Amino acid sequence: MIGVKILGAGKCAPENIATNEDFAKIVDTNDEWITTRTGIKKRHIANGEPTWFLGARAAKAAVENAGIKPDEIGLIIATTITGDYSTPSVSCIIQREIGAKGSMAIDVNCACSGFVYGFDMAKRYLQTDCGLKYALVVSSEELSKITDYTDRSTCVLFGDGAAAVVLERCDDTIYAAYLGADGTGAQYLLAKSYESHTPFSNGGVKIEDDMPKRENHCLYQDGKEVYKFATKTLPLACQKTCEILGMTPGDLNCIVPHQANKRIIETAAKNLSLPIDRFFLNLEEYGNTSSASIPIALCDAIDTGAIKRGDKVCLVGFGAGLTYGSVIFEY
Ligand code: ACO
Repeated sequence: MIGVKILGAGKCAPENIATNEDFAKIVDTNDEWITTRTGIKKRHIANGEPTWFLGARAAKAAVENAGIKPDEIGLIIATTITGDYSTPSVSCIIQREIGAKGSMAIDVNCACSGFVYGFDMAKRYLQTDCGLKYALVVSSEELSKITDYTDRSTCVLFGDGAAAVVLERCDDTIYAAYLGADGTGAQYLLAKSYESHTPFSNGGVKIEDDMPKRENHCLYQDGKEVYKFATKTLPLACQKTCEILGMTPGDLNCIVPHQANKRIIETAAKNLSLPIDRFFLNLEEYGNTSSASIPIALCDAIDTGAIKRGDKVCLVGFGAGLTYGSVIFEY
């Protein structure tokens, strides 16, 4: 079966850290509430570094770890919802920074499922005969840019960081993907973009949608709806991907889920009848870094030996859109 091999991985987190105690100083919260409801203890928060900078650092580390030259990369897929510019893309700036001359550069916006979508897109490019040797998938996020630090129900959840992998086609391995979206849940998790302002507008037709009205560009979420979606989708995506390969979730050596909330992952483990230690968790250290959360956890799982060569690994994400996705591969 055609799949992919991870040749190298790397991550970058800002040095600046905000603990639960730090949040207790700015909103009405405490360590006990945050820990029991989410499992999060601290997050890394950018201190002036742009999103592209974290992504480029992570990408450089992944390329070095893979032992290849940057100009051997033919495709860069960058995932983010917090890029520094509407244009140019983060992938183009990362390409410039790491010296991946001439490579394709694409940005993907699938929120917290972004890395899983990007991983699968890279695999599909690598399996075609387009002369592509290596692909880089890099996820870089600064949720601090769109976090409302006066809203205690969301601000404690998010952090910043980046991570990347270098992928190569592998002809004798296992691989499956199960990706999807449900746009009817778009209103449950959103951050507003720019509105049009043109001298030619005359008040025209106002199209209303059912999205919650927002005064700023910060993240809004209906926590309970997102919780329901996440606890349903995470086990379902994992189960469906296993079925494609004729496996059961019990055959997986490690599941690396989106690091949104420990309670979501515990519920998913229960629904899949798996012990919680089959899931790799590092959200205590990083909080929710949207699309960067799965690759940061993947890096840590590799670095700590929780994932070893030959292991069957499942990456599973869910997020705004609403989007979801899971891939299974052999490390
Ligand atoms: N500290 C103290 N109290 C708080 C805080 C806080 N940080 N935040 C909310 N509360 C209060 C609420 O005001 C409420 O008080 P009230 O009963 O007096 O009204 C009480 O705690 C309970 O609030 P709930 O919203 O019911 O709390 P819940 O147990 O549902 O937990 C949470 C909230 C953690 C956000 C939960 O809904 C959740 O995990 N949702 C999933 C969201 C998620 O992970 N999103 C990540 C982004 S999406 C993604 O990555 C895919």
